[in-house]
Amino acid sequence: MLPTLPPDLDRDRLPSHVAVIMDGNGRWAQQRGLPRVAGHRQGAKTLKELLHCCKDWGIGSLTAYAFSTENWCRPTEEVNFLMLLFERLLRQEVAEMQREGVRISFIGDLSALPDTLQREVRRAIVATANNQTVQFNLAVNYGSRAELTQVCRQIVEKVRQGNLNSSEVTESLIAQYLNPSNLPDPDLLIRTSGEIRLSNFLLWQLAYTELYFTDTLWPDFDRAAFHQALLAYQGRD
Ligand code: FPP
Repeated sequence: MLPTLPPDLDRDRLPSHVAVIMDGNGRWAQQRGLPRVAGHRQGAKTLKELLHCCKDWGIGSLTAYAFSTENWCRPTEEVNFLMLLFERLLRQEVAEMQREGVRISFIGDLSALPDTLQREVRRAIVATANNQTVQFNLAVNYGSRAELTQVCRQIVEKVRQGNLNSSEVTESLIAQYLNPSNLPDPDLLIRTSGEIRLSNFLLWQLAYTELYFTDTLWPDFDRAAFHQALLAYQGRD
């Protein structure tokens, strides 16, 4: 029995994979008269807490949208801050991920990231590769249409080389290309801060996912808020 699971949650009907669009960091900071980046710093703490929560409650996979392909359009200082934040967190948190059994993986075009960040990404993937308690998948420089376009290119190339027949291009083949980490599709998507759209996140993978939108700003999305999201999920048919 997992000790800290709230008694009103049914352990047998928890989602096995939760995806989150972490929205509202800037507004959270602005409401407090702080610079937007303070919201991102707090948002990172929230994400860490959610990861703990997944571990404590027996939820095996978490995918978080950390940086979209559109996010490059933000002010340069904010983009630079986020890149440094990702890098610093990866460097600092790998030891704890090891202790907690968290295996990290990434989706998105990582080749556009600063070299120093790419190095930390590779280091974190290798260091946590054998962990099995929680699979933590981070979307960085990610866009679902770009991901699908890339998969189309790979499949077309295989067909062109004569290694695949077009009749062999099935939904399950596409899913394999899309999902190198073999993660199940998300059962539950949570988006915070009152925005009700998918913003180019996991468009294929969310086809059958339960969607949960809340007005809570991401930095305020604590255990109690996650608990509410899980109750709503379990209340659905
Ligand atoms: C959206 O809020 C948030 C982001 C674009 C950045 C998310 C990044 C973190 C929470 C840091 C996580 C760290 C790691 C290592 C994954 P927003 O800025 O769009 O907020 P707004 O809608 O209120 O302006």
